[in-house]
Amino acid sequence: MDSKLSKPTIALHWITGVLFIGVIILGLYVEGLPRSPEKFELLGIHKSLGVMILAVALIRIIWRFKEGPITGAPEQNRALQILAKSVQHLLLLATLLMPISGIMMNTGGGRALEVFGLEILAAGEKIEWLGSLGHTIHVIAAKIIIALIVLHVIGALKHQLVNRDHAIERMFGR
Ligand code: HEM
Ligand code: HEM
Repeated sequence: MDSKLSKPTIALHWITGVLFIGVIILGLYVEGLPRSPEKFELLGIHKSLGVMILAVALIRIIWRFKEGPITGAPEQNRALQILAKSVQHLLLLATLLMPISGIMMNTGGGRALEVFGLEILAAGEKIEWLGSLGHTIHVIAAKIIIALIVLHVIGALKHQLVNRDHAIERMFGR
C-alpha cells in the first residue's frame, strides 16, 4: 500500500484504541465486584480514564474532519469495504457515546465528576431519568461496541495476514 497515514491519525488511533479497550475491561471487572472501597477506587479510575477518552476523541473527530477520510486498505469485495467503513464510523461514535452516557449516569446520580481528583462538574441534585437513561445506554452500547471491536480487529488481521496489504503495519506508520 502506498498511501501513508498521518502521524496524528496514528497517534490518535492508538491512544484512543488502547485506552478504550482498557476502560472496557476495567468496567466489566468493576461491575462484577461486590460493594467495597476497592470497587469505588477502581470505578473512579474507570471514570477518570473515560473522561480523558472523551477529550482525545473530540480532538480525533475534529482532526478527521480537517484531514478528510483516510484512504482505506484496498478491498475488492464491495460489501466488506462498506462494512469496514461503517464499523470505523460506529467506533468513532462509540468513543463519544460511552463517556457521555457514563457522565449522564454520574450526574444523574447527583455526584461530582472528577478526573483523578480534579473536579470537572460539581455535585448537584439527583436526576433520576438522566441516570437511568445513561445506565441503559452505557450497558447496552458496551455490548454492541465489544462486538464491533472484535469485527474491527478480525478485519485488520484479515488484511494483514490474508490480503497481505500491510494494513496493521501502516497503522504503525510503516
Ligand atoms: C488492537 C486493536 C486494533 C487494531 C489491530 C486496529 C487496527 C486498525 C487498522 C489496521 C486500521 C486502518 C484501516 C484501513 O487501513 O482501512 C484502523 C482504523 C481505525 N480504527 Fe482501529 N484497530 C484496533 C483498535 C481500535 C479501537 C479499540 C477503536 C475504537 C475506539 C478503533 C477505531 C478505528 C477507527 C475509527 C479507524 C479509522 C481511522 C481513523 O478514523 O482514524 N480501532 N484500525
Ligand atoms: C470510553 C469510555 C468508557 C467505556 C468504554 C466504558 C465502559 C464500561 C463498561 C464495559 C462497563 C460495564 C457495563 C456492564 O456490562 O455492566 C461500564 C460500567 C460503568 N461505567 Fe463506564 N465506560 C466509559 C466511561 C465512563 C465514564 C466517563 C463514567 C462516569 C463518569 C462511567 C461510569 C461507569 C459506571 C458507574 C459503571 C457501572 C455501571 C453499573 O453500575 O452497572 N464510565 N463502563
